[in-house]
Amino acid sequence: MNQAVLEAIRKRRSIREFTGAEIEAGKLRAIVEAGMWAPSGLNNQPWRFVTIRDAAVREQVAQQTHYGHIVRAAAALIAVYLDKNDMYDDVKDYQSAGACIQNMLLAAEALELGGVWLGQILKNKAMVNRILDLGDNLDLMAVIALGFPLHHNQKSTRKGIDKLLVKQL
Ligand SMILES: Cc1cc2nc3c(=O)[nH]c(=O)nc-3n(C[C@H](O)[C@H](O)[C@H](O)COP(=O)(O)O)c2cc1C
Repeated sequence: MNQAVLEAIRKRRSIREFTGAEIEAGKLRAIVEAGMWAPSGLNNQPWRFVTIRDAAVREQVAQQTHYGHIVRAAAALIAVYLDKNDMYDDVKDYQSAGACIQNMLLAAEALELGGVWLGQILKNKAMVNRILDLGDNLDLMAVIALGFPLHHNQKSTRKGIDKLLVKQL
């Protein structure tokens, strides 16, 4: 049995501290491609992406979230959108966005990068669209902050499987 996927899923942690090293454009593109290959209902692929390495734009985005320090420390951001004009079912399209984002976080790990899914910024999603000069058809789902991890000391916990696995029939 090949354990690589299971191990990647288990070992992924949210990375919020970065070395400051830049991320080459090719790696960012590879992460977006991993997102594109997520499953989506009817293979609808409602996701859209904006990659941001520019420090001045990053600073403007940083000002839209309580987690601005993470955005400032990151080498790059990927803003993940749903195109409202290309949605067919709200729940299924939102679920697809989640699968897409998780694919990108795992891809970042595979490229020896780290990242964190930022959701708190959604409270200012209209401002983010204005900064990025995007139309109202694009609905922000998350910003992923990416960079080379400063360390790997992150700890996380999960509820016990006995609490989560409600029934085994
Ligand atoms: C929908 C969603 C929104 C999140 N928003 C934020 C956020 O705004 N800021 C942050 O630092 N982490 C955010 N996170 C990361 C979670 O805090 C993190 O995944 C959780 O604590 C588990 O830790 P782990 O990813 O290291 O396993 C978010 C995660 C998800 C799935």
